[in-house]
Amino acid sequence: MQILRTAAAMARRSARWDRKVAFVPTMGALHDGHLSLVHEARRQVGKRGAVVVSIFVNPLQFGPNEDLSRYPRPLARDLRLCREAGVDAVFLPSPEDLTPAGQSVFVDESLLSAGLCGASRPGHFRGVCTIVLKLFNLVRPDVAVFGQKDWQQLAIIRRMVRDLNVPVRLVGAPTHREADGLAMSSRNVYLSPEERAQAPALRRALQSGAELIRKGETSTARVLAAARKVLAREAPLGRIDYLELVDADTLASTRRLPAQPLLAAAVFFGRTRLIDNLAVVAAE
Ligand code: PAF
Repeated sequence: MQILRTAAAMARRSARWDRKVAFVPTMGALHDGHLSLVHEARRQVGKRGAVVVSIFVNPLQFGPNEDLSRYPRPLARDLRLCREAGVDAVFLPSPEDLTPAGQSVFVDESLLSAGLCGASRPGHFRGVCTIVLKLFNLVRPDVAVFGQKDWQQLAIIRRMVRDLNVPVRLVGAPTHREADGLAMSSRNVYLSPEERAQAPALRRALQSGAELIRKGETSTARVLAAARKVLAREAPLGRIDYLELVDADTLASTRRLPAQPLLAAAVFFGRTRLIDNLAVVAAE
């Protein structure tokens, strides 16, 4: 497995790709969810292709009071997991490499970024889009794989790729979950035992909303009230940041059921913010 530690080294490597390349961008602290993306990347390009993983805790996507400094960085373990998963190359840029002092060009998606996580994390998706486009430019993948746990992120990156004619095919991979339903996240390690015990209620809340929709409920307010009730009962330590029913494509919310209903939520447990979503008509 090759390790590329600078943007220049990555660019030199990419100029010489002679096979299909599948790319999984990450911020490290890898868990089984990331590894499922790596396996999907391998499926996309086959044995003869190359799978590239980037590990970069992107400062541009953290707000001033967020967890940038304490974000877990278990690099040796991450590299071992990549090696074991058959990754061909890991790109490990430094912040100086990807966020040069005086940077004045950024990628700003202006429609889908407005709500959900974008509303409570101003500038977050600008940071994500800017760094993902830079990673695409340096890695030059044929395919890039993103987790559907970050549904809004994937929708925004799809928009960026469409609107800026970025020559990459995007693949969304299903959310990987713990046995009790909690979506895997690098931030789950922050949870206290009590918070960890209550966190799976986030998933159950979304499921109870989905259940109502399947039974024919068409009022957004009633669907959300059902989900909120589950959270109040089963996760008293949780504080809802948002809980919304939106259209899975446009991310717009409406009073009546959207065409492709997506339930999406962010809940704080202490300082830890967890997100999850459920697409009601998808393979749930
Ligand atoms: O999903 C993530 O881990 C990050 O937002 C990403 C796509 C690696 C960009 O920093």
